[in-house]
Amino acid sequence: MNKNRESGELRFALVGCGRIAKRHSELLGNKQIGGAVLVAVCDVVAGKAEAIGKQFSVPWFTDMHEMMKQGGIDVVVVLTESGLHAQHVIALAPYGCSIVVEKPMALTLADADAMIRACDLAGVRLFVVKQNRFNVPVVKLREALEQGRFGKLVLGTVRVRWCRTQEYYDQDPWRGTWALDGGVLSNQASHHIDLLEWMLGDVVSVFAHATTALVDIEAEDTAVAVLRFSSGALGIIEATTATRPRDLEGSISVLGENGTVEIGGFAVNKMSVWSFSRPQTDDPLVMEKFSVNPPNVYGFGHQAYYEHVVDCIRNDKQQLVDGLEGRKSLELISAIYESVETGREVHLRFQPNRCRLGVRP
Ligand SMILES: NC(=O)c1ccc[n+]([C@@H]2O[C@H](COP(=O)([O-])OP(=O)(O)OC[C@H]3O[C@@H](n4cnc5c(N)ncnc54)[C@H](O)[C@@H]3O)[C@@H](O)[C@H]2O)c1
Repeated sequence: MNKNRESGELRFALVGCGRIAKRHSELLGNKQIGGAVLVAVCDVVAGKAEAIGKQFSVPWFTDMHEMMKQGGIDVVVVLTESGLHAQHVIALAPYGCSIVVEKPMALTLADADAMIRACDLAGVRLFVVKQNRFNVPVVKLREALEQGRFGKLVLGTVRVRWCRTQEYYDQDPWRGTWALDGGVLSNQASHHIDLLEWMLGDVVSVFAHATTALVDIEAEDTAVAVLRFSSGALGIIEATTATRPRDLEGSISVLGENGTVEIGGFAVNKMSVWSFSRPQTDDPLVMEKFSVNPPNVYGFGHQAYYEHVVDCIRNDKQQLVDGLEGRKSLELISAIYESVETGREVHLRFQPNRCRLGVRP
């Protein structure tokens, strides 16, 4: 395998050749990531593995263990159904490669803990994909927060108003199920919930409502949650895949005593408000340079994300979202589901009790 790699290139292999594998394989297979090369792909459905394998002229497999045993892999990327991430990461850890896992890292906190433990025991790095953290407007927002430009934080809100029809959910049996996916909160909005917590800090309590408004699935297609952060700030999550007839926005707003920033677009990628009571000289440029909407809801972030993975491995840097960091938004999402089930405010830290996410029938 991969005899032709240029020296020093990291050799990536994919487990799961479904929808999101298209994005990953195009970036890695078309050499769009410096220092990375695609060397093998795997899917239990032979036709899917074969299609991507042939497209990028790499060996394809239907058994991930067979692929790993061939050797010559530095990083394995888990792109399987969300509820299967844990078992796949735990099975892959002993091969000693770095592991990248798509969001959400797992559906239960017990699974997330088992993944973190398995990777620690095997001495391998775990990277959780949160590509929106790498969107340039999001990076600017984070910088402004780190510089203290907002002063006292008052309010943080996220909105996910996307369109996912019954056809979307029907294309694969796992979509919208409690055991393997969950609803808009654990799937589509998990990015935005992660961003909100990354910007505003730890959440101390949450109260939520959810409903399944327009499609026939087990989990919710619409949810709202009210948060209290440890800083004293308040927060709102509004998440729906029942926007019709098309995607409207994926956005975040942060309001503080000295400024307001809002990032909108379809995928938190378009700066729409950048306003501070104590302006800095490059403030007008921020609006000018970063108000571009990406071509699809995945945004540009996967490319920047992979560049980060390569940089961390090559230069022995700490990854932005390791297992413990990925676990944080999973805990918040689990708390939101717990509140939906109990009709009560849920205080974090907490252990899920009635949350149905990740529970097998
Ligand atoms: N970061 C993002 O913006 C983003 C976007 C879309 C999907 N995702 C995540 O990516 C994951 C996959 O989503 P998808 O839409 O590509 O799903 P999908 O159903 O299209 O693809 C999953 C694939 O994994 C394969 N698979 C299952 N078990 C396997 C095994 N043991 N070995 C090899 N292959 C196996 C399935 O056959 C399937 O082809 C989900 O967790 C989802 O949440 C992330």
